[in-house]
Amino acid sequence: MCGIVGYIGNQSVVDILIDGLHQLEYRGYDSAGVAVQCGEKINVYKAEGKLENLSSVLIQHKKEFTAATLGIGHIRWATHGAPTVLNAHPHTCNCGSLVIVHNGIIENFKELRAELEKKGAKFRSQTDTEVVAHLIAYKYEELKDLTKAVREATKEIDGAYALCVMHNDEKDKLVATKRNAPLLVGVGEGEFFLASDVPAIIKHTKRAMYLNDNQVVTLTREKMVLTDAEGNILPQKVETLPWEPVALSKMGYKHFMLKEIHEQPDVIRNILVGKLHSVDEPIVLNEVKLTKETLKNLNRIQIIACGTSLHAAMIGKYIIENFCGISVDIEASSEYIYRKTVTDEKTLVIGVSQSGETADTLTAIKQAKAKGSHALIITNRPDSAMAREADSLIPVSAGIEVSVAATKSYIAQVVSFYLLAMYMAEIKNSLDSATLTSLKADLIQIPQKIEQILSDKNDIKECAKKYSGTRDFIYIARGINYPTALEGALKLKEISYINATGYPAGELKHGPIAMLDESMPVLSILMTGSVYEKLLSNSEEAKARNARMIALTNSKDAKLNDLFDFIIRVPEVSELLSPLIAMIPLQLLAYYIAEYLGKDVDQPRNLAKSVTVE
Ligand code: AGP
Repeated sequence: MCGIVGYIGNQSVVDILIDGLHQLEYRGYDSAGVAVQCGEKINVYKAEGKLENLSSVLIQHKKEFTAATLGIGHIRWATHGAPTVLNAHPHTCNCGSLVIVHNGIIENFKELRAELEKKGAKFRSQTDTEVVAHLIAYKYEELKDLTKAVREATKEIDGAYALCVMHNDEKDKLVATKRNAPLLVGVGEGEFFLASDVPAIIKHTKRAMYLNDNQVVTLTREKMVLTDAEGNILPQKVETLPWEPVALSKMGYKHFMLKEIHEQPDVIRNILVGKLHSVDEPIVLNEVKLTKETLKNLNRIQIIACGTSLHAAMIGKYIIENFCGISVDIEASSEYIYRKTVTDEKTLVIGVSQSGETADTLTAIKQAKAKGSHALIITNRPDSAMAREADSLIPVSAGIEVSVAATKSYIAQVVSFYLLAMYMAEIKNSLDSATLTSLKADLIQIPQKIEQILSDKNDIKECAKKYSGTRDFIYIARGINYPTALEGALKLKEISYINATGYPAGELKHGPIAMLDESMPVLSILMTGSVYEKLLSNSEEAKARNARMIALTNSKDAKLNDLFDFIIRVPEVSELLSPLIAMIPLQLLAYYIAEYLGKDVDQPRNLAKSVTVE
């Protein structure tokens, strides 16, 4: 997380930096800052909170930087040190000649800080980043060369970083480097851009070079020089980015989240085009690079993901096991990477990530690949670091998702799992053709059914109003919709800060039932099918403890009216596809509760859209 930008050229630098940071706000919004070469000195401007606060600071200093054409900028998601102005980037050495911005975590910062303090470094912040500023400054005193100083300093750093550095004694230069954090250079005419991600530069240039770990790039207005960790000059792989600048607009919706929820029917239609032609034709999934023979003989799959993507992965497990009879393990990436995992060349490893940059998942994928596994990546960002690691890449094509709370990317991931599972089932011949045909027919109908839900949200709004005052919320489900309960609860937690938890309904009686009383809402995801009656009994048990019962259901069963205080109805859908329908009202419920409570829906506190620290 955190976003960094840099610019050297002939245009007004502050405008470019601020616009770039605005495009990277999804990476954090705890504080923001820029450093600009203003004649004989470097000026640093910072503000706590969102970017608009920095813009207000800059307005007051406009005269100082009107002619400036070189600078760096940062948007912060706090790791070390509270989100204050002092901890905001850019950070400087003692005299302010050397200035840096950083994305990542310096793991040995305490040891480095102690050594640097002995040498006379004066620390002003609690951040890990400031040690890097002092460390490079000391190297610079010896080497009198910014590129060399950066290269030598990074040899002493443990952890992850993307760094942009400027020095007042080398006024026409920017130096940048990275390890386990994203960074790319945009190449223009007589100008260069640095950024954590494409949206920050795409307005200016489509030509870019992704930096690899431990490479150092030195930028002047005339040229870029790329070197390795030993200082050897490297060839430059400048590519044309497959992106068009998009004006991100809410299209009349109050929040991006609401707009993105409404985009879901079209997102599904787009995914199905070219892959699901008709109910009688096989699924086309050329993205899967495993041979049919390998797929037929596959007996183990591991799916690795975090957060919402992990919930999509859980549905993936359910349907792959059901359709293909292959055993699937699911794991949170952050757990996968710190234990002895049993993975080998016979295991298919699937990484799921909206951003394709999540550090935990990226590390886990690299770890599995090192053991010989085929890595299949399902991501919304085909240009991401994870996509570059992929042996097979399934882009989910949900379009840019701005709201921090994932909605359309989740539905797109789940649909991709349906296609993958059906594709494998057809190759393995593991599902009878009547079931496959009816699954395909039902999947084609899903967008229309979601549109039906979106066309009348009154019940959901009423439910949101009625339950918005609650402190806690429990979601229960069984079978294929257990992940839906987890994801519904996560959505509510993320944007309303209500303590919401999802449980497999059969687990209630093993502990959580103790929490139930007349103040506790229990939302039961009661979709017709194999576990309907079981879940009904679990709901009865909760009702008997006086919980405030809500049903989300596609059933017309009259006895639900006695059991539930509130019922949200959804269209008929087969059990196997029901997660695609059940999720929509839960996204809306979370949205309207947060909206009713006046929360910052698109940028909830403490979160960031792309989590690039472990
Ligand atoms: C989703 O609403 C969350 N903001 C978060 O849990 C997210 O799903 C998680 O950080 C994983 O991100 P990824 O899909 O980009 O890897």
